[in-house]
Amino acid sequence: MWILFLGDVVGKPGRKAASEFLSRVRGVRDVDLVIANGENIAGGTGLTEPTVRELFDAGVDVLTGGNHVWDKKEGVHLVRTDERILRPANYPPGVDGRGWGIYRGRSGTPYGVVSLAGRVFMGGGDCPFRWADAFLPEIRKATGCVFVDFHAEATSEKRALAIYLDGRVSAIAGTHTHVQTADAQLLPKGTGYITDAGMCGPAGSVIGMDPQGVLRRFLLQVPTRFEVAAGEPEASGVFFDIDPPEGTCRRVQPFRMSETGMRSKETWKTFSGP
Ligand SMILES: [Fe+2]
Ligand SMILES: [Fe+2]
Repeated sequence: MWILFLGDVVGKPGRKAASEFLSRVRGVRDVDLVIANGENIAGGTGLTEPTVRELFDAGVDVLTGGNHVWDKKEGVHLVRTDERILRPANYPPGVDGRGWGIYRGRSGTPYGVVSLAGRVFMGGGDCPFRWADAFLPEIRKATGCVFVDFHAEATSEKRALAIYLDGRVSAIAGTHTHVQTADAQLLPKGTGYITDAGMCGPAGSVIGMDPQGVLRRFLLQVPTRFEVAAGEPEASGVFFDIDPPEGTCRRVQPFRMSETGMRSKETWKTFSGP
């Protein structure tokens, strides 16, 4: 059973790329559940009602969170009330929203989806390793198919958590750095893994932002407002083939596709197999 995870969706170009990718994948592959990282969907940070609706209408089932998920004031009530929106689970008790949920795929299969945040160069959260020890047994009572979005800066922390959770979850995809890593793999005990899924957003940008503003900050060291870059939208993410009910991962297939690539029939041949 394929599940699809889209890396951090950044602003309008990201939403456009995600929607376009989803509309085209529908014809070539049966995807049971679609998850996307939603921390950057509205103008590059946070979320709003129309931007959330746009992604749900396009076929996203669950939005995972990250350090920016609360950035838009009007989006906080969505994090608090909409069960399809997650924020990192390992934040202190009392923080708005929820960090994990059980969602039904199109086949009726239940999936646990967990949003976790790292602490190296990030700060903020409680220990993601101990959070997993404490809560995974409860999630696994509902389903063996468990997906984790690990939103973290450091490759080492992502890889360490993946090895720690190998065989206890079906798949782990890293997010937050917005650049896809070339290490998609099956871990020895059956967990699918990639250090970073990449982003859906404008190509030619600096992790989604207009390079001019970013360069100004690097060169002059003055506060600068970052704007989402213009430029051709591209979609990045990863497919995981998961066997219910145990939740073992069979295949991991990352993709990174430009808008032009999405229009080419050739592109889709690699996705249309069994
Ligand atoms: Fe992000
Ligand atoms: Fe982030």
